Amino acid sequence: MNKEVSRRTIVAGNWKMHGSRVANQELLQSLTALMTKDNLSTEVLVFPPSLYLDGVSKQLADSDIGFGAQNLSEQAKGAFTGEVSASMLKDLNCGHVLVGHSERRSLYNESSKLVAEKYKAALEGGLIPVLCIGETLAEREAGQTMDIVFRQLDAVLDVVGTEGLSQGIVAYEPVWAIGTGMTASPEQAQEVHHDIRSHLRELDEALAANMQILYGGSVNGQNATQLFAMSDIDGGLIGGASLKADEFFQICKAAG
Ligand code: 13P
Repeated sequence: MNKEVSRRTIVAGNWKMHGSRVANQELLQSLTALMTKDNLSTEVLVFPPSLYLDGVSKQLADSDIGFGAQNLSEQAKGAFTGEVSASMLKDLNCGHVLVGHSERRSLYNESSKLVAEKYKAALEGGLIPVLCIGETLAEREAGQTMDIVFRQLDAVLDVVGTEGLSQGIVAYEPVWAIGTGMTASPEQAQEVHHDIRSHLRELDEALAANMQILYGGSVNGQNATQLFAMSDIDGGLIGGASLKADEFFQICKAAG
């Protein structure tokens, strides 16, 4: 299937709470070595734990691999023990930041309102937010997938508007597919991506046409090609498989 417009694909690795200084160095060494051999047209990003961003920044200084944080504070600065601000991430040369990952929503009670504030803080700090949205299995089975996804999207639109949303990236990650090995079929994922784009089109034609919408949830070296071939899937947000250089590189190649 041909993409109608030329949105650049992105493959992003969310390392979650994995890694160590040594393991990160080895992973990035392998990945940069693999990437210099092939000329990839896809944009490649990694999201290490915040503590390691400085080291990753130094290691990736001369590479084409971009990087970002997995979370940020909605506050700009002040007495917020344990939090990390957008400007601090920018100070470490981060280009991107994940907001609203389902693990943050479900395990740390982040509401859609808070996620929207974080999205806004990221933009104000000069970062590109990657907004993660997706339904649980119970919600899918109850036929509520699009209600949930639109609600999560609209919460951000309410705070930053279409202009703000257009400066970020959307990642559709069905919660039931995350870390379960139970990936959405290319058709299931395409259906939601298509509906997200249609929803955006009702607000702004250009926003819909240009918005990069990534799929996440058990993407691996085997299923990536078929998922990325779908017309509204512009790449992937990869968890487990991003910790293995060979497999992550295979996924990057599948995206271009
Ligand atoms: P898995 O690829 O391990 O399913 O994780 C997906 C994810 O949560 C990426 O943010």
